[in-house]
Amino acid sequence: MGINLARIAIFASGNGSNAENIVHYFEKQKTATVDLIVSNNPNAFVLERAAKLGIESHIISRADFKQAENLLELLKNKKIDFIVLAGFLWLIPSELIISYPNRILNIHPALLPKYGGKGMYGDFVHQAVSISGDTKSGITIHFVNKAYDEGDIIFQKSVEIEAGEDSDKIAEKVHALEYEYFPVIIEKVITSK
Ligand code: GRF
Repeated sequence: MGINLARIAIFASGNGSNAENIVHYFEKQKTATVDLIVSNNPNAFVLERAAKLGIESHIISRADFKQAENLLELLKNKKIDFIVLAGFLWLIPSELIISYPNRILNIHPALLPKYGGKGMYGDFVHQAVSISGDTKSGITIHFVNKAYDEGDIIFQKSVEIEAGEDSDKIAEKVHALEYEYFPVIIEKVITSK
């Protein structure tokens, strides 16, 4: 649709290491810019990262998020073309999904459809994988729809798990995949539109 320089908003609830990695990637690539970071958590470390990176951030209340009108107004004012969820824990309201069809991406730290759904995030995922005896885990990048972790899958990458590896070790391997692939796949989606 002829976007020259796509504008991205990242939604994140916690640490924000993926958010920072995406910002740095697009500083180099110049195919998009990260123009806004939205968090539901006023104490999230991602907000400190945003301040250091010089990126505008916005803290959103649950009521404002569910109602979506003010958020949509903010996204419109900032001319946001794509939304990237990087460790964002709230279900996305349908108004946002309708306004950004196939323009909201999420990363899940496991190979969906396994280990997905409500309550399956962060260490809960890696712990479940660790006790399952599975010999691999990985990442899933997908479009966001109304249900947690059920949107169309764009990309998956797996990594081997050795016997006896704990959830910390699995998390470390999965994070490495996230840093390597998430920005590249975001860019692919953006440049294909
Ligand atoms: C990542 O593992 C991501 O896959 C998941 O939440 C985690 C966020 O980590 N959705 P960080 O905040 O980017 O460090």
